[in-house]
Amino acid sequence: MPKPDWSPATVRVAPSLLSCRFEVMAEEIRAVQVAGADWLHFDVMDGHFVPNISVGPLGVEAARRAAPELVLDVHLMISDPDKYLESFAEAGADILTVHVETSLDVGRTLRNIRALGLCAGITLNPGTPLETVEAHLGEVDLVQVMSVNPGFSGQDFIPGSLERIRVLRERIAWEALPVFLEVDGGVNPENAAHVREAGADVLVAGSAVYGADDYAGAIRQIRGDG
Ligand code: DX5
Ligand code: ZN
Repeated sequence: MPKPDWSPATVRVAPSLLSCRFEVMAEEIRAVQVAGADWLHFDVMDGHFVPNISVGPLGVEAARRAAPELVLDVHLMISDPDKYLESFAEAGADILTVHVETSLDVGRTLRNIRALGLCAGITLNPGTPLETVEAHLGEVDLVQVMSVNPGFSGQDFIPGSLERIRVLRERIAWEALPVFLEVDGGVNPENAAHVREAGADVLVAGSAVYGADDYAGAIRQIRGDG
């Protein structure tokens, strides 16, 4: 799968499957695809790094089968991610994002992801200093700001995240880095404009999309085009 098109002027919405009806996951994937989702966000939780367990490579493989041409943005909330990178690559992920808190040598982890032919993403918890990811901006395709403490969908957006997005956007613009700036957690049609204005260009939304009656309307509002 080629790298997702990078264009700084475009805002993308990535519905998070964590909020979908799992008993009909394939249907839910196709529903957001038809509704205009740009990417699909897949949350992997291990019950160790975060206090919740979701699904692993088998789930990613199922999502890939349901939507062969959609960008699969896989967010690894797991300890020791290096152990599993290959399985997620084989399962069909396009982007693998790891938490800076989970790797002793995150630079090596990012290189390992790229060596598998995937886009490498880095993320951090709301309480982790930004400097920990800033040091790696030259070796990633995506940086993600967590705007809730990871583990569950449906939490409130932490307002201080906006400043963190601004700081990263400035750095990315200043150095003209080809890096997506993604925001994950509590994004909804009401706060999406602030998130976009702060400089995010990929907005993850779980409950705000899958909890809406009209997926397409929610996606458009979050993207800012209606
Ligand atoms: C939280 C996950 C998020 C979550 C987003 O740990 O990483 O992707 O599913 O869900 P909402 O948009 O409902 O906060
Ligand atoms: Zn996520």
